[in-house]
Amino acid sequence: MAAQTLPPGPQAPRNFFQLLQLMRKFETDMLGYVSRSFKQYGGIWKIEAGGEIQYMISEPDLIQEITVKQADKFHKSPDYIDDKRGLARFLGTGLLTNDGEFWKRQRKLVAPAFHTKRIEAYAQTMVDSTKAMLDRWHGQSTLDIDDEMMRVTLQIVVKTLFNVDISAEAERIGDAMTALQQMVGNNSIVEKLLPLWIPTPQRRRSKKAVDDLDEIIYGLIADWKKEGKDNGDLLSMLMLTRDDEGNGMSDKQVRDEAVTLFLAGHDTTANTLNWTWYLLAQNPEVEAKLHHEIDTVLGGNLPTLADLRRLPYSEMVIKESMRLFPPAYFFGRVAIDDVQLGNFYAPKGTGIGISSYTVHRDPRWWDAPETFRPERFSPENAEHIRKYSYIPFGAGPRVCIGNSFAMMEAHLMLVMIAQRYQLRLSAGQEVKIDPLLTMKPKGGLHLLLEERQVSRPLSVSSHQLEAV
Ligand code: HEM
Repeated sequence: MAAQTLPPGPQAPRNFFQLLQLMRKFETDMLGYVSRSFKQYGGIWKIEAGGEIQYMISEPDLIQEITVKQADKFHKSPDYIDDKRGLARFLGTGLLTNDGEFWKRQRKLVAPAFHTKRIEAYAQTMVDSTKAMLDRWHGQSTLDIDDEMMRVTLQIVVKTLFNVDISAEAERIGDAMTALQQMVGNNSIVEKLLPLWIPTPQRRRSKKAVDDLDEIIYGLIADWKKEGKDNGDLLSMLMLTRDDEGNGMSDKQVRDEAVTLFLAGHDTTANTLNWTWYLLAQNPEVEAKLHHEIDTVLGGNLPTLADLRRLPYSEMVIKESMRLFPPAYFFGRVAIDDVQLGNFYAPKGTGIGISSYTVHRDPRWWDAPETFRPERFSPENAEHIRKYSYIPFGAGPRVCIGNSFAMMEAHLMLVMIAQRYQLRLSAGQEVKIDPLLTMKPKGGLHLLLEERQVSRPLSVSSHQLEAV
């Protein structure tokens, strides 16, 4: 290995007080602190604290090294796989919190559930759930959009996973998931430092949430077994899938994968849409183009899956929104071997944080990076985007397994909502980012609602329109 040079970075805290100060910076202004440090030190810098060392990465070539070229030299970070303090205490060994050979086996087993044909069947559920929400909005003038997006994406994931409609059970699942999300995203110093045996209110709530989820999910598994047939939902796929030796998953493993898909599969999409509404409310020219496309292609009709490819601008809007506000703004690894990363050496055990938020706003790869400009993602322009400078779904073998599901869902929801409503910020409203497990608008996103004059449903179908 070449010279063992470590990357630059701030002075490590020298006492407990300085350590607390650093933790406080992360708690109160994580994105600001990280962005300023990238400006100061470059696309790789290190942070040392409490005897641990973490490299922060925002350089496309290094992102490629970590996620693709040398992917087998990294595992997920302890924030994920530590079963005492990491996400694994809730998710067990689901895909997000698993590694090595076991993860490889599971990834192969779960993959068929996300094959294009399979997920295309979920388009109708997405349209139905969104339509029910829009009907409920009629006559309202303000809404917490965050709440609405979370609710409907949860409903969609519950239905597609378990074929369970909104019901008392789905509500209980929703409450449990919300409690878990709050616990997972908690950056509070108190929660991090307090010994685990102290039952803080948060910990009591998350324990109850896990108990509730277990009861519901094991119940659904038991119900499924009575018939044992493919209902078209993700649970059926998880129950029926077999590895090369013909072995399936244990009930516990199905539970872990199902809870993982829940957690990974709804607030990411909800937040993609939240930020899209926020950006559209401030960029009327983009909004006008979006409306034009939707009105021309759909008229007043509901979209079908086949319509989506004829709505390219709306897809570009989503991609650009995920550039500025990537829901998974940061994801972690740990080096399981000594590794060379460009000019720098990372000893075994080094923590790695990949910052999509920063690489997505780097002026070296993005012209006027703070500007919302969906045209960056037109077919002509997209081919010039620097590789690994746009990673909303990660990259390499651990790339998001639900990315097509998420894009289809966000696309359908965006066109259906924008077809019927215009969402506005109220005068002087300030929206702040809350960087939890995903990037959320702090305190919700309260928007004004204006009903649009939707064209009458056309007598020709949208497919006939194409030929006109
Ligand atoms: C806009 C929505 C979404 C975004 C931005 C997103 C983002 C990501 C990212 C960045 C990763 C990689 C993390 C890493 O490398 O450490 C990931 C992994 C994952 N995502 Fe998504 N995701 C979204 C939606 C979904 C949906 C809808 C599902 C499932 C229904 C899902 C399930 C997963 C799972 C299971 C993994 C772990 C894959 C593995 O490690 O094998 N995601 N996601």
